[in-house]
Amino acid sequence: MSSTTSKVLTLIISAFTIVQITLASDPDILTDFIAPNGSQVDASFFTFTGFRVLPPNTQPSTFKAWKASRTEFPALDGQSVSYAALEFPSGSINPPHTHPRSAELLFLAKGSLQVGFVDTTNKLFTQTLQPGDMFVFPKGLVHFQHNSDTQKPALAFSAFGSANAGTVSIPNTLFNTTIDDNVLALAFKTNISTIQALKKGFAS
Ligand SMILES: *[C@@H]1O[C@H](CO)[C@@H](O)[C@H](O)[C@H]1NC(C)=O
Ligand SMILES: *[C@@H]1O[C@H](CO)[C@@H](O)[C@H](O)[C@H]1NC(C)=O
Ligand SMILES: *[C@@H]1O[C@H](CO)[C@@H](O)[C@H](O)[C@H]1NC(C)=O
Repeated sequence: MSSTTSKVLTLIISAFTIVQITLASDPDILTDFIAPNGSQVDASFFTFTGFRVLPPNTQPSTFKAWKASRTEFPALDGQSVSYAALEFPSGSINPPHTHPRSAELLFLAKGSLQVGFVDTTNKLFTQTLQPGDMFVFPKGLVHFQHNSDTQKPALAFSAFGSANAGTVSIPNTLFNTTIDDNVLALAFKTNISTIQALKKGFAS
């Protein structure tokens, strides 16, 4: 390959990399921040106190996610970041789900946690985390978390590269919508009564 060709190739590859990076985040904004209605704001606008309720103050009986995204914390609008606090009573799970708009960087603060994701070749990557460990779930891939400890709760914090990462819960998406039973029976290679039994678990 001539050196000119290789330089052109390098340029094309780096241009694609830059485009990828640009597309991998929320749209950029043309102001420092987005104040509601363009109004005057003070430091309290940039402060989120919603996690003050966390342990030892809370003891949920099932898995609980506390979100600090654009909805709960409007100052995040346009900043491409958000957080969630995840509480896992012993034995609880955060069922398989995806975040369409961001990777997730999970930090385990307390307890132990089994985590995992499946890539687009259907390969499972799983790990048991100790306090202080971090695990990254790549953007858009199906992942889960499970506190298999029979005694101790676990507490984790997740950072996202989007102010509104979004969550698609796999069980909820499949069995708590009105997708035709026959479509699901065919998809899962089972019969309609099995699908109806699964759907029953979600009926409120
Ligand atoms: C923004 O405007 C709406 C409608 O005028 C008003 O109800 C709301 O309180 C305003 N929000 C802030 C933060 O000023
Ligand atoms: C549906 O499938 C389940 C599990 O294979 C089986 O136990 C059940 O008898 C089937 N029901 C019908 C109506 O075919
Ligand atoms: C099922 O969907 C409804 C409506 O979106 C929701 O309120 C409910 O929490 C869901 N049930 C479960 C078990 O997730």
